[in-house]
Amino acid sequence: KIIKQVNELLSQMTPEEKIGQMTQFAGQGAVTGPTIDAQFQEYLDKGMVGSMFNVFGAEGLKKLQKNAMEKSRLKIPILFAADVIHGYETIFPIPLAESCSWDLELMEQSARIAAVEATSAGISWTFAPMVDIARDARWGRVMEGAGEDVYLGSLVAKARVKGFQGVSSIEDFKKEHTLLACAKHFAAYGAAEAGRDYNTVDVSEHTLRETYFPPFEACIDAGVATFMTSFNEISGVPSTGSQFLYKHVLREEWGFSGMVVTDYTAINELIPHGYAEDLKHASERALLAGIDMDMNGAAYIQHLSSLLKEGRISEKMLDVATARILELKFMLGLFDDPYLYMDTKREKKWIGHESHKKAALDGAHRSIVLLKNKDQILPLKKNQQKKVALIGPMIKEQNSLNGEWAIRGDRSKSVSIFKGLQDEYQGSGVKFTYAKGCDLLNEEGEQGFKAAVNLAMESDMVLVAMGEDFNWSGEAASRTNIKLPEPQRALLKALKATDKPIVLVLLNGRPLNLSWEDEHLDAIVEAWYPGEAAGTAIADIISGDYNPSAKLTMSFPRNVGQLPIYYNHKNTGRPLDPKNRMDYKSSYLDVENSPLYPFGYGLSYTTFKYSNLSLSSEKFSVGGEIQVSVEVKNTGDYDGEEIVQLYIQDIAASVTQPVKSLKGFQKIMLKKGEQKRVSFTLNEESIKILTADLKREAEAGKFNLWVGNSSNDASNHKTFYYE
Ligand code: IFM
Repeated sequence: KIIKQVNELLSQMTPEEKIGQMTQFAGQGAVTGPTIDAQFQEYLDKGMVGSMFNVFGAEGLKKLQKNAMEKSRLKIPILFAADVIHGYETIFPIPLAESCSWDLELMEQSARIAAVEATSAGISWTFAPMVDIARDARWGRVMEGAGEDVYLGSLVAKARVKGFQGVSSIEDFKKEHTLLACAKHFAAYGAAEAGRDYNTVDVSEHTLRETYFPPFEACIDAGVATFMTSFNEISGVPSTGSQFLYKHVLREEWGFSGMVVTDYTAINELIPHGYAEDLKHASERALLAGIDMDMNGAAYIQHLSSLLKEGRISEKMLDVATARILELKFMLGLFDDPYLYMDTKREKKWIGHESHKKAALDGAHRSIVLLKNKDQILPLKKNQQKKVALIGPMIKEQNSLNGEWAIRGDRSKSVSIFKGLQDEYQGSGVKFTYAKGCDLLNEEGEQGFKAAVNLAMESDMVLVAMGEDFNWSGEAASRTNIKLPEPQRALLKALKATDKPIVLVLLNGRPLNLSWEDEHLDAIVEAWYPGEAAGTAIADIISGDYNPSAKLTMSFPRNVGQLPIYYNHKNTGRPLDPKNRMDYKSSYLDVENSPLYPFGYGLSYTTFKYSNLSLSSEKFSVGGEIQVSVEVKNTGDYDGEEIVQLYIQDIAASVTQPVKSLKGFQKIMLKKGEQKRVSFTLNEESIKILTADLKREAEAGKFNLWVGNSSNDASNHKTFYYE
């Protein structure tokens, strides 16, 4: 029915009206590139804008929609979009943090909540999830994804698409809380050379298909409605003009029939890339690649008409792109009710709903990773008399807690660590004092240091909160130095000299180089940017009211020179044996090969013992499977959750394989002393590799298998065969 409606409408449209539909303009919400307000108003007045983004609020959007309905000859509603990345107004932990929960239901739920809020306020399309695999912590956008691993990243991608769209089939789109999702940024944006945002990418087709494509394919499996191009080039062809990516892979191979939007002014950027002579040429390149909508570049709207007249593009091409856009509008129900998503009553009801706030706190609890806990210095129990000095620029900070891409979150309302701890320990024997010590970047001066050190000397313990300002990660926020900024490090060193036990709470958007901190401090809590409930969640972790359960989804390097670093690297022909360091091995002279904290690593206040790893059989063949199981026992003093991880290695294959690859995980709750047998199934799908001629095949041979508490845990090992 929709196809018929789309065709009917198309048949009445002029080429200019079609091109208008293929055009998107930005409001003032989050400006991440050049703006083109003057032209924009003119097109809007003619009712020739297909979509707008980052304009907010049901009331305001109603007005814009009314304008479109009255001024466009054919009464075509605008599709309103926004970067709803980790919450709309209720702000959840940044996506990288949330992925450390390894809790797919939780991630689906936070996306759903974001969708309910955004769609009540007029938005029906989000530019999320970002599913770029990221292995270089210098790249600021690592905060927006699910980390370094393809298997986990693909599952998270699926969960987030399902959460945003909220329906399992496109036939159900016409629901008031459907938020179209957008798989971005296709492709390999995370492979930018040296982690510098927007930089060149040069990867083989094999690596594209093995590492960077799978999370996008997972989005398609989950029914994602749209894709976004990436800013980078791949092997000489900018993604936004790539026929290989869009025509061949996305459309022909994967059969994706949804809409593709560019990233912000990415068509215009084909010129500096050196891929187009001028904007007209760039528009031609993008359209020929199959890109449907131009985000904020005004390239299509200025040039497609003359390209059409000159016969360089065909009207059929405009029809195809416009049809994809109209189809979404029909599927969302916008032609029946252009104001369906702008409901001030719903907006009032859902935004900041109590249940959403609870979920944001739950998400923050589950995202915080305990990296170090010497002599069980944490939890800091309430039933004791203790003087604790709270020190550091993040103790009273509120502005950064939501992290980047939290456009609508009210930063002044997030709970500071100071407030969280005060509330948590009210009436207990634990007494807090406070000194800022230094700013995030600039020293407060000697006075600041002195006051902090004096306070530490008078205390039994020091709790320091430090990190990165929120806009040091996200778009265009790459760093070459991924240590804590110098004044903060200097303050830590001064505090260390007092010999008091030190707990460090970190707020940051990327893995940092924590080598000094790991060596010298007693406990390290990686809180990332936990969102609006930050202080409450951190205080619950510090007190033990919540036992930390998250595990890293990106490796933390020992120093920046190791980047990119990831657990499932290749072995090389000269692998290093750490127990027998010889010359002429693949190694560094000045640092170990391994990361400081590996993928899958994270501590709990309790301990878990793994034993009796068993396989149902040592061999399997076509159509068969192996059951893998292991006993996990909570051997510590607290109830707690554990993320049990299964890794395998294909020892010899026609294409070399990583030293290990995640193939399954389970998050289980174990009461103190409780034991459970955890089971996994391995089948052909689990062992398939991408062959040299780019086919996914299971090859006969011997495999290593580990089940453990991180990618570095080799204590429970077996081998099996595929015949
Ligand atoms: O959605 C974003 C994209 O991820 C980066 N550039 C800007 C877009 C719109 O804000």
